[in-house]
Amino acid sequence: MHIDRLETPALIVEEKILRQNRETMKALLKDSPLQLRPHYKTHKCAALAHMQMKDGAKGMTCAKLGEALDLADSGIEDILIANQITDPKKIRRMAELAGDCRLTVCVDHAENIDAIAKAAADHSTTIHCLIEFDLGMERCGVSDPKEFLALAERIGSHSHLRFEGIQAYAGHISHLTDAQQMKTLTAEYSATLRSLMAQLKAHGMPAATLSGGSTGTSVLKAAEGLYTELQAGSYLFMDSTYRELELPFRNSLFLLSTVVSRRDGLTVVDAGVKTCGVEQGMPVPIGGSVDHIVDSEEHFQLHGYTGSEKPGEHILLIPGHCCSTINLHEKLYIVDDCKVIDRLPITGRCIGK
Ligand SMILES: Cc1ncc(COP(=O)(O)O)c(C=O)c1O
Repeated sequence: MHIDRLETPALIVEEKILRQNRETMKALLKDSPLQLRPHYKTHKCAALAHMQMKDGAKGMTCAKLGEALDLADSGIEDILIANQITDPKKIRRMAELAGDCRLTVCVDHAENIDAIAKAAADHSTTIHCLIEFDLGMERCGVSDPKEFLALAERIGSHSHLRFEGIQAYAGHISHLTDAQQMKTLTAEYSATLRSLMAQLKAHGMPAATLSGGSTGTSVLKAAEGLYTELQAGSYLFMDSTYRELELPFRNSLFLLSTVVSRRDGLTVVDAGVKTCGVEQGMPVPIGGSVDHIVDSEEHFQLHGYTGSEKPGEHILLIPGHCCSTINLHEKLYIVDDCKVIDRLPITGRCIGK
């Protein structure tokens, strides 16, 4: 079927570019100690997770317990929840899940560690723990090495927990367009991490894993050889925000929209914030430039759009943020030269947990 037959707005992925992005990532990590642990939050699509595992991924990263449950249900056996799970009901469910897969979770608080240990003991399971180290993002994690060591010891005191190592995700530098600034900050953070790792080793608690990184920092992380796991997600699709960086990955994800109104320098399409994530930036139309875009729930108003599409005709948009866009859809169409060749369900999206 030709993509013009799809009801819009529809999310489409260009298969050839997707394949190129996969090959580029494989080439980047070849001969590197860094292993891919791709982030599920990007696509929340079990079929694509299995494709990434076949590409050589060590396991999957995810943001939430709901995503971990979806991954395990699809048969993925090595899962990292790259966040803290603190709700007692979720801790119990996570402890049960640890019986179905090798489960790792991030921690940054002593009482949370005790609660996870108790749940794991109650379920007779083992949970692996990464202590989150804050490199300046100010989201989660500890930034004092002494506090880190105390938490590692606490994990070591529980028989149903294993101290696995460090999560250090510097999300605040992932989208820096100044490559030199990104390089300088990455080197600074790596020096801090090397010192932390030396202290852990000296205390007899070496970190087997150092997990983090993003699509934006993937080239630097592969070259540096310090991290053991790369949590990149967006590399498969890219978006208009990542397009601003000089990265070896290309845009494969597009939102197919239809022009619903056109007059005096204003072109309006049937996609808006209910089908396209804009929190990192506006979408970019293919086929013409724009002065600016105004968003509403079901419309984007393209001011000064230079393309020639009339009402009823299609415009392809590069989403501002691939991850939040996909979460708004139930399915992804895989296309090859404008022909639909597959349709994949976003299996993890409906789970609010
Ligand atoms: C914990 C964590 N790791 C890695 C990433 C990197 O994802 P991406 O490659 O899509 O930038 C994110 C993005 O939000 C994240 O939250």
